[in-house]
Amino acid sequence: MQSLQHKASEWSGVAAADAFAIDDGNIFEALGGTPQPFVDLSTNFYTRVYEDEEEWFREIFAGSKKEDAIQNQYEFLIQRMGGPPLFSQRRGHPALIGRHRPFLVTHRAAERWLHHMQQALDTTESIDADSKTKMMNFFRHTAYFLVAGNEMTRQQSQGVACKHATSKPAE
Ligand code: HEM
Repeated sequence: MQSLQHKASEWSGVAAADAFAIDDGNIFEALGGTPQPFVDLSTNFYTRVYEDEEEWFREIFAGSKKEDAIQNQYEFLIQRMGGPPLFSQRRGHPALIGRHRPFLVTHRAAERWLHHMQQALDTTESIDADSKTKMMNFFRHTAYFLVAGNEMTRQQSQGVACKHATSKPAE
């Protein structure tokens, strides 16, 4: 079976080396070492998501409060981009595939997510151009990593026979 990383690169068109160029330097420090640019980006992104004209996409987020979704995302981004481990301190291990399991993370959903993120990055002034390019490559690759992970977990839950679910044999 092709690895999830491999699928993520193939489907996103972003090589792993480009996706993880966020680790070449410390983006959190490069952006001033404060949470503000990440708060700006996540607020911008989720404002677009919660106001999306496409109802099917808005529905995916209907179970979460916008303020919580913003905080979850910026704490994760701060941690992943070289800042303090705010996300793990509050929520535990990121385990992104597992946390996205309840949602239908399809290719179409990934493209819509990335569309909003591209627009959010384009209109966030507290992030410089080089960091934006690196972040977008990371987002593209991660989005398709999640699509591949979502397909895998769905196949597993459909295909694995288990005794817990079999019917009682007729007497
Ligand atoms: C949370 C959907 C891509 C990182 C969520 C939530 C939804 C969602 C519905 C719940 C909102 C909340 O309560 O926080 C999607 C869809 C994606 C996608 C449809 C399309 C591919 C991504 C990507 C990343 C990401 C690319 C990271 C780069 C996160 C994080 C959380 C989250 C960190 C918070 C998890 C938690 O605190 O439990 N996502 N997501 N997501 N997503 Fe995504």
